[in-house]
Amino acid sequence: MKFFIDTADLEQIKEAAALGILDGVTTNPSLMAKVGIKGTDAVMNHYKLICDIVDGPVSAEVISTDFAGMVREGEMLAEIHPNIVVKIPMIKEGIKAIKHFSTLGIKTNCTLIFSAGQALMAAKAGATMVSPFIGRIDDSNWEGVQLIEQIVNIYGNYGYDTEVLAASIRSPLHIVQCAEAGADIATCPLSSILGLLKHPLTDIGLAQFLEDAKKFA
Ligand code: E4P
Repeated sequence: MKFFIDTADLEQIKEAAALGILDGVTTNPSLMAKVGIKGTDAVMNHYKLICDIVDGPVSAEVISTDFAGMVREGEMLAEIHPNIVVKIPMIKEGIKAIKHFSTLGIKTNCTLIFSAGQALMAAKAGATMVSPFIGRIDDSNWEGVQLIEQIVNIYGNYGYDTEVLAASIRSPLHIVQCAEAGADIATCPLSSILGLLKHPLTDIGLAQFLEDAKKFA
């Protein structure tokens, strides 16, 4: 499974990249706002900085909601760097834009996926990736991971190339559940990626080994 980091924070991206296991980055308008990016030039420059840190897909989201606007924005974003993936919301105009970009060979990530039907539509339009938001589904008292299983199953039935990018990950357990369900990618906060490393028995075992090592050092 590929690991993406879900942030626009350059320090966090660098920290995850330094682990050597980072495959890509996802951002969204809320994450960009959180790090104080304002204005088109600053946004474009920020994506460039992210692409300089990580050699892998970097999702950059359009904010237009009409076909022409999404195409205009998406083309500008795709110009920044070959690793940019144009992130497009799951709406009617978005599907048209995804189809348009897929015929041009521009990669897309269809975001805000909350049902298998939406994921099917995005794959039919030629989306490179779909982003089911499992944490937000859990928040509304449904089981987000079940959606990952459903989409993986449907894509398998028909051989769709669209990658399942599990998003809105809230914990290390979510990552493991998505791996079990067959997600191609999980995009995670840094805390969840680092959380995967932890186990109290590892800490206890290491402390014991280091203690015993003193006996023969
Ligand atoms: C996905 O690409 C989104 O940026 C993200 O995972 C949303 O997560 P949230 O529900 O924690 O905002």
